[in-house]
Amino acid sequence: MSVELPQKQGYAKKSQRNGIGLYTSWKDRFFVLQDGEISYYTEPTKEVMKGSLSLIGCSLKNSNDSTELLIESSIGSQNGLNIKFTTVDECENWKVDIAKHIKHFNFNEKMLKGKTCVVTGSTSGIGKGIARNYLKQGAFVFIGGRSDKTVNKTLEEFRSEGLTNVQGIVADITTTEGCKSFFSKVDESGKFVDVLCNNMGVFDLQNFFEVTDEKWTEYFQTNVLTTVKFCRKFLKPMLEKNSGRVIIISSEGGVKPIPDMIAYSTTKGAQITLARGLAELTKGTNVTVNSLLPGPTMTEGVETFVDGLVAESNGASREDVIKKFFQDREPTSLIQRFLRVEEVANVATFLASDMSSGINGATQRVEGGIIRST
Ligand SMILES: NC(=O)c1ccc[n+]([C@@H]2O[C@H](COP(=O)([O-])OP(=O)(O)OC[C@H]3O[C@@H](n4cnc5c(N)ncnc54)[C@H](OP(=O)(O)O)[C@@H]3O)[C@@H](O)[C@H]2O)c1
Repeated sequence: MSVELPQKQGYAKKSQRNGIGLYTSWKDRFFVLQDGEISYYTEPTKEVMKGSLSLIGCSLKNSNDSTELLIESSIGSQNGLNIKFTTVDECENWKVDIAKHIKHFNFNEKMLKGKTCVVTGSTSGIGKGIARNYLKQGAFVFIGGRSDKTVNKTLEEFRSEGLTNVQGIVADITTTEGCKSFFSKVDESGKFVDVLCNNMGVFDLQNFFEVTDEKWTEYFQTNVLTTVKFCRKFLKPMLEKNSGRVIIISSEGGVKPIPDMIAYSTTKGAQITLARGLAELTKGTNVTVNSLLPGPTMTEGVETFVDGLVAESNGASREDVIKKFFQDREPTSLIQRFLRVEEVANVATFLASDMSSGINGATQRVEGGIIRST
């Protein structure tokens, strides 16, 4: 028995609230599924097609005695939900069934399947960890660094791990030329960038009274202006497509300035403001912009720094040196240890995924509890 749906006049609305929207048509009806609710209309708007089709799919299969609705979530069709109905009443019950099921993500699915991501500064440290996670989660990733040597070494490492969906771009992105070259490589690929992770940043220890104007300018050029340039390039197309994620890797120092890293901390504070400002431009869309605040993280550079402390410590163990470092420099840290790169990368992966659709304009911490304020 085929199903007659009740006529519902009106236009399907643009599906934009949290990225879990879908659209399909069947029997001259247009369906929009969003936030666990399904609606059907007699006419779609163009916006529905633009905003929803690329995100998610759903189809209806007819057989003699039933109709089957197959929902493919944006994190993979294997998690599809089949609902069969034979009567209008059953059809009405979809709403209930879908509301029960659609909000559950399948955590075994790859979180970034089909996405294209840019991760700046990704030949070492946190950026490399983020790029690795994005690749493992099914994305195509553009990675970058300043030299052929570091970029190729990273590509080789990833490939040896079976992570091949990656392109390296060699460019000094603190320069106008370097940015242009990076952007043209991405443009040449013809790919739409779904996720921009602004990770590249520099830091060192300094006495505030000895930091020159030139050094301050360099800090701002590197940590702030480069982020601005990348956001200017990639955020607009995301807004036009009504889909995308921008993540700015700031630091806990942006909220709790580090006394011997004041210039650095100031740029990290600026990045937090930048992220929030850009998030304001996303109002009412599916695009999000967030800053992510790592705490002290055991990157290759920090490893070398700790090696130095151990060497100067008159025979103290590495463990004791790290313990003392946290007691002296980060007494409010709740974990009293360096974060692992993967711990930071995991949060950056969540923020890049569809699962983070409710987080926008946030300063997302992954700093082991150093910051005491709410
Ligand atoms: N590590 C921490 O404890 C910590 C804590 C809080 C926040 N953060 C933030 O996390 C981010 C990454 O820090 P990290 O410690 O992981 O850094 P890192 O290990 O020093 O890595 C920096 C990356 O940036 C690249 N890079 C540097 N200058 C560049 C330039 N001019 N053009 C293009 N690429 C450039 C480097 O590549 P090449 O050498 O190949 O050029 C490298 O891949 C930074 O924004 C930092 O502020 C770090």
